Amino acid sequence: MTTTSARTPRPQPRGGRARAAIAAKTLRTDRWWFAPLITVVGLSAWVIYATVRVFMHKWYWVEQYHYLTPFYSPCVTDRCVEGSSHFGQFLPGWWIIPDAALTLPFLLLFRLTCYYYRKAYYRSFWLSPPACAVPDGHQSYSGETRFPLLSQNLHRYFFYAAAIISLINTWDAILAFHSPEGFGFGLGNIILLVNVVMLWAYTISCHSCRHIIGGRLKHFSKHPMRYKAWTGVSWLNVRHMQLAWITLGTLALTDFYVMAVAAGWINDLRFIN
Ligand code: FES
Repeated sequence: MTTTSARTPRPQPRGGRARAAIAAKTLRTDRWWFAPLITVVGLSAWVIYATVRVFMHKWYWVEQYHYLTPFYSPCVTDRCVEGSSHFGQFLPGWWIIPDAALTLPFLLLFRLTCYYYRKAYYRSFWLSPPACAVPDGHQSYSGETRFPLLSQNLHRYFFYAAAIISLINTWDAILAFHSPEGFGFGLGNIILLVNVVMLWAYTISCHSCRHIIGGRLKHFSKHPMRYKAWTGVSWLNVRHMQLAWITLGTLALTDFYVMAVAAGWINDLRFIN
């Protein structure tokens, strides 16, 4: 898929330097197109799965073990099955309203404005540009200086919302240590816990979080605790891309497992009660 066909040099962005007079579209001979392609496939598959599940309105709660899928947490419509609403039911159960309508929009905006996902979908869906040393797929480039992309700067506020939602997911995972006999522990608990730990790791590794923890300081030496916290967040931050993908996987796996148990396709593997 290496592209070396001749082309007319494009107009340059305002104030930008003229591109070198190279007739080829790109001189790269490696598989630069593979990363954008796999990103399109992976993100599209996940979005389709999540959309189907969110509007399915069933198989999200296992009454016996109190497993609640994160796609329905917290369940706040009056359609939510008994026991699944840990924070009340104050929205109408219309088909178009997700049962977790209170949190899903913020989670969507948190991921959409995430620094890593921006890079991923700018490159793969918008081809802007698809890879280093490969021309932009568009005639002009304004970056994030105008509406609507200017609103990407709201990311830090979605981070606060995501942190609160991670607390709710943590609470769900704690409540799931349940069985008809009282305390219980099964494979579902492990899956819910791993998902929550990964969600925290992704949330804390956020670039905005790193700035909140260590930004606006002149001397780290005078703030040893913040330096320590910033060092930990920085360690996670360099793994942010991996965590972004891992959490998509753990979210889908957790949801699928809860769906499979709730639907009666499989039995939960129980270790205690
Ligand atoms: S930069 Fe990715 S979640 Fe904040």
